Amino acid sequence: MIQIAIMGLGTVGTGVAKVVAENSRQIERKLGEPLQVKTILVRRFKDGPYRQLMTDDFTKIEEDPEIRVVVETIGGVEAAYEYTRRALAAGKHVVTANKQLVAEKGCELLSLAKKKGVNYLFEASVGGGIPILHPLTQCMAANRIDEVYGILNGTTNYILTRMVRAGASFANALREAQEKGYAEADPTADIEGIDAGRKICILADLAFGHQVDPALLPIEGISRLSLQDVKLAGRAGYRVKLLGRAVRLPGGGRTAYVAPHLVLESNPLSGVEDVFNAVVVQGNATGEVMFYGKGAGELPTASACVADVMEAIQQSPRREEIGWSPDSAGFEDPLALPSQYYFRVEGSLADAAAAFGRVEVLSENGETAFLTDRITGQDAMQRARSLKVLACMRVLG
Ligand code: HSE
Repeated sequence: MIQIAIMGLGTVGTGVAKVVAENSRQIERKLGEPLQVKTILVRRFKDGPYRQLMTDDFTKIEEDPEIRVVVETIGGVEAAYEYTRRALAAGKHVVTANKQLVAEKGCELLSLAKKKGVNYLFEASVGGGIPILHPLTQCMAANRIDEVYGILNGTTNYILTRMVRAGASFANALREAQEKGYAEADPTADIEGIDAGRKICILADLAFGHQVDPALLPIEGISRLSLQDVKLAGRAGYRVKLLGRAVRLPGGGRTAYVAPHLVLESNPLSGVEDVFNAVVVQGNATGEVMFYGKGAGELPTASACVADVMEAIQQSPRREEIGWSPDSAGFEDPLALPSQYYFRVEGSLADAAAAFGRVEVLSENGETAFLTDRITGQDAMQRARSLKVLACMRVLG
């Protein structure tokens, strides 16, 4: 019998307990012995099927030699960081869906795990149930990764889809996403792009081998996005999607950011709807590879956690090493990246053309919406100085 502990019994923690119980036969067949949740760390005791497993004392996990793997689903940094360090120091594997902790402290926790001969695994931290970190670090290991980008937040993609498809208000669509268990405890992290930012940092860390500090990442969410721009983009053959991007730059530097983009309807990312996420990885040997699936929710995220638990046990003491350097030198401002831009400005086409030269007009009626040629972000910001800008987004591609 393999015994594990879960820390935190929210959406993902509950999902982990359910997957372990409901898929026990498949799991046992693969591991050669049964897997059982022995202890669940909670802040407040609650009634239900797991009542007799609950404790509010972390030492019951830390000091229990029978517990080999700890699944951390507390979220946030403080308690999760302390308990993860102590669990690793006690020689236990730790598995997590906690993107904030991995983005901020992953480098340090991986090196502690290495020192202790155990695993720190976090497949569920990016893309929920989509396998992305293993393919990126293992299946594509023979590539130089040049770019990783995609739809990394299920809540905002759900909101955008509901607003466009069902005419739902922003507030109602957000409430639905919360009811379905997709949103963060504080949904500001979803809406303002912070959650997608943590995920693109983890992808960039693994793809490029250097820490990207989430506190320094340029992020823009969807809270200031207007339905008018979504509709104008739609009429021109584009969908608006919140994307995270991490790009290797020609001079050897790297950049990353999160922002809403116009995505051509012919691009497969434009058809990614509801809670689905999609991540595109561009390797120099493979070309573009796309990963697609449910990016949030109880069971998809738990599926990735339990697979990591099984991997930690099967590959004990330590699988092929993953990690990255704490050195973040070489991180550059994404304004250096060239792209087409969408602008909506107060004024006429003549005003827009005076600032940008040749533009493609999408609408003109006191305000002008237009697409620029391909220019750098610095150039776009410089040229837009003479205009009253109402909206501005990059075009993907
Ligand atoms: N709040 C996150 C999302 C959960 O909506 O994608 C999964 O990380």
